[in-house]
Amino acid sequence: MNADAHEPWWRDAVVYQIYPRSFQDSDGDGDGDLRGVAARLDHVAALGADAIWLSPFCPSPMADGGYDVANYTDVDPRFGTLADADALIVAAHERGLRVLLDVVPCHTSIEHPWFAEHPERYVWSDRHGPQNNWRAAFGGRAWSRDERSGRWYLHSFYPEQPDLDWRRDDVRAAMAGVLDFWIARGVDGFRLDALDRLLKDPDLRDDPPASGPPPLPEQGECATLDMRHSRNAPDIGDALAALCAGAGRDALLVGEVYLPADMIAPYLEHVDVAFAFELLHARWHAGAVRAAIASALALEGRAAWVLSNHDFPRLPDRVGMRNIRAAALLALTLPGPVFVYQGDELGMADGPGREPPHDRAGRDRHRHPMRWDDDAPHGGFTTGDPWLPAVEVVGGSVAAQAGDPDSVLALYRDLIEQRRELGEGMELVAAGEGVVAYRRGVQHVVALNLDDRPRPVPPAGEIVRFTHSDRCRRGATAPRELAPGEGFLARV
Ligand code: GLC
Repeated sequence: MNADAHEPWWRDAVVYQIYPRSFQDSDGDGDGDLRGVAARLDHVAALGADAIWLSPFCPSPMADGGYDVANYTDVDPRFGTLADADALIVAAHERGLRVLLDVVPCHTSIEHPWFAEHPERYVWSDRHGPQNNWRAAFGGRAWSRDERSGRWYLHSFYPEQPDLDWRRDDVRAAMAGVLDFWIARGVDGFRLDALDRLLKDPDLRDDPPASGPPPLPEQGECATLDMRHSRNAPDIGDALAALCAGAGRDALLVGEVYLPADMIAPYLEHVDVAFAFELLHARWHAGAVRAAIASALALEGRAAWVLSNHDFPRLPDRVGMRNIRAAALLALTLPGPVFVYQGDELGMADGPGREPPHDRAGRDRHRHPMRWDDDAPHGGFTTGDPWLPAVEVVGGSVAAQAGDPDSVLALYRDLIEQRRELGEGMELVAAGEGVVAYRRGVQHVVALNLDDRPRPVPPAGEIVRFTHSDRCRRGATAPRELAPGEGFLARV
């Protein structure tokens, strides 16, 4: 994509996030699997994506949807075999798609053999109870009692996910070895999970009470504490250096660092890019969106844009169905890599929750199966009984949208194609109330109306892509007013 051979391949890449359990089932057991992913890669390639990111598929008791890993160097039987992973990597490369895996270094599953065989690799309280007041991300205290030893261990997430002690050399070496293992199998990079939680205060001091709202939304009692000791330790760089050494020089490393952009610099000394969570969480309001973009632009191309993933409500449920096209326009025209969560390209909304839930933190609703074909059982996802129902999508399945030039899917394809033409740099331009507008390179202008009434926009030349192509075609003069939810990419 980049004319300049010295630019890294990922500079403006589109990375498509696949949640393997929900993408495509190949054997009728109701769970998606790696062979299913391979069978559907043509969809991702046709979208124009540069890479796929696969959420975890390693052996796991699935207390946290696979983010509780019991063996970092194998494939869970529900997803297939190592041979299937190898075949998937080859199939992706054949289509020009690079492959990123999800590595979860902060914690293992409580069923990982290390927990029994190498308890010294974990963080323990030296008291008969919790060591401090830290809270777990999904609620409750961050300490639980190990039935076997009677001692209390730290878990930043579910009790089934004990935290590793990242000040230990053996932990660092073992996890670097995991990256090395997958690099040798041909992967092109990693999304590194929960990096802000990797390293904590060495003295395990109490978190003080919060003096204001948390910098990014937190669940439960985490928001009542200023989490200055339970994460983001000042010597994080040492741990990251050791971890990232396992990836070699060419791999793309994407940090999931759940902190605002102005706290991310120490992480960017070791990973290539970090997700811009402020934009994901920004209210769909021009001022809030502008501020979130400006904050991430300060990272100078090292922000990975993301508007949805498997952890948060899907776009129609967050920004409103009316605004999903403008959200796509925004994400796909910002400078730097962008992540698209499977189903976003269809305008997929959250599905129903489940009782009892698979995920106790309520995230089942964001993880329903892909909708391939409205005429096939379960939308073409499985011939069996799906682990979550394959809910209908308002705009129709992949098959229904593929031939429709006015569909959401066509909008994603067109914008991804146009992305390559946008040129370097970005500048926010002054615009009236309710509008976000910016210049890309020397020729392109983007404008979108986030308000609930029509709003005037600056003059912008000729339309390249309007959010609703049936209302304004390519080549038309850019309108001077946008209805709610509308936007355009234009050439001056
Ligand atoms: C990340 C993952 C999330 C998981 C958590 C703990 O935030 O995206 O799904 O629950 O880490 O591993």
